[in-house]
Amino acid sequence: MTQDDNTGKPWAGRFTEATDRFVEAFSASVYFDKRLYRYDVEASIAHARMLAHVGLLEDDEYQAIEKGLLEIKNDIEHGDFAWLVELEDVHMNIEARLTERIGVAGKKLHTGRSRNDQVATDMRLYLRDEIDQIRGELRRLQDALLDIAEREAETILPGFTHLQVAQPVTFGHHMLAWHEMLRRDDERLGDCRRRVNVMPLGAAALAGTSYPIDRAYTARLLGFERIAENSLDAVSDRDFIIEFIGCAALIMTHLSRFSEELILWASAQFGFIELSDRYCTGSSIMPQKKNPDIPELVRGKTGRVNGHLVALLTLMKAQPLAYNKDNQEDKEPLFDTVDTLKGCLRIFADMMPAMEINKKRMLAAAHQGFATATDLADYLVRRGVPFRDAHEVVGKAVRYGLDNGKDLADMSLEELRQFSSHIEADVFDVLTLSGSVAARNHLGGTAPEQVRAAVQRARAGI
Ligand code: ARG
Repeated sequence: MTQDDNTGKPWAGRFTEATDRFVEAFSASVYFDKRLYRYDVEASIAHARMLAHVGLLEDDEYQAIEKGLLEIKNDIEHGDFAWLVELEDVHMNIEARLTERIGVAGKKLHTGRSRNDQVATDMRLYLRDEIDQIRGELRRLQDALLDIAEREAETILPGFTHLQVAQPVTFGHHMLAWHEMLRRDDERLGDCRRRVNVMPLGAAALAGTSYPIDRAYTARLLGFERIAENSLDAVSDRDFIIEFIGCAALIMTHLSRFSEELILWASAQFGFIELSDRYCTGSSIMPQKKNPDIPELVRGKTGRVNGHLVALLTLMKAQPLAYNKDNQEDKEPLFDTVDTLKGCLRIFADMMPAMEINKKRMLAAAHQGFATATDLADYLVRRGVPFRDAHEVVGKAVRYGLDNGKDLADMSLEELRQFSSHIEADVFDVLTLSGSVAARNHLGGTAPEQVRAAVQRARAGI
């Protein structure tokens, strides 16, 4: 094919002038949609088989198409396929090559379909596959968190609100909080997958086709759970992509929050954890540095995925029915979202088990900042002091502690009794950190016993 005419373009018939070369390159999507080749081949084989099934193709024509497409797939996988920009996209490249190989039967493949339902089908097959892989990585990370939670069920660190020491919590409990976020993410992906797994094929260009196609047959071959009900919607709908990127943005937001905590915890000031050298880098100028690059990058990449969500919403907001070329712009944001998310989950799932935990530093930090102040107030309430008065009493004790450089547990009974005569010697049971966490022993609480039970439930999928 030369560059100066439209020879080879399946739509050349009504044109008298060749496409401007820059326009050709500008409107082509083959640079990026070639990654759909496997799904394009799979969907084409299923479509051809359906055509044979309803008598629109001879059996030997179907055989030739299937063989030809599988050979093309093989060539692509061996780097033996020349993608041509003149042929615009993955669909026309593969179809043209098929006809080159098998002759006239290749020209019959497109009977009863259009690139509009073809591309929507490919995208759904691709995304269904990717969702399954992403959920695999997500579960790997969840399992890693459960292992840490179990191991660190008794490990105490300060819990924060407003990034100020609030109450002591167990590290296992903290890991389980992350696990909960991911559990919802997994659920959301599963739910999204149901709406991805709907077959647009058969909608043809926009109105359906006059051929006696059997959509249920094709759907069965491709493993689609449902068939798109409306042909106009089938070719124009990209909700499934927006929904997926929405799920991805939320997962990235979660990973970004985890990253933020890891970065803080890895700092000299916190010193709660040490990330494995495999996940850090040094500085070219400051020899002492070990930078938590991976969590920082994950936090940074969240912006990209959030941006892709906005890109897709904006892409769709003004489109009339049905297919518009705008839709070609759905691919790069989706592909980048998939790659980014999969990479971030994978690296997190590998990095977390290799993280070292500095229990001593966590415990020492929990001893600062009057983390058991609420426990003292609760103690007074149990002795009949109204909660608001108890709050006031403890506030004064904290003030005294601040002025004298003492934590509540470091004060003598006499010192504590200055603030309330209800305080007795048994107060020290509640002022200890382990007493404080053990006391929160109900479903969802931070007590080690609850952490272990929650890990068991999560492992059992309850
Ligand atoms: N490359 C196109 C896309 O990604 C395929 C569908 C083209 N359809 C059309 N009518 N031009 O959306």
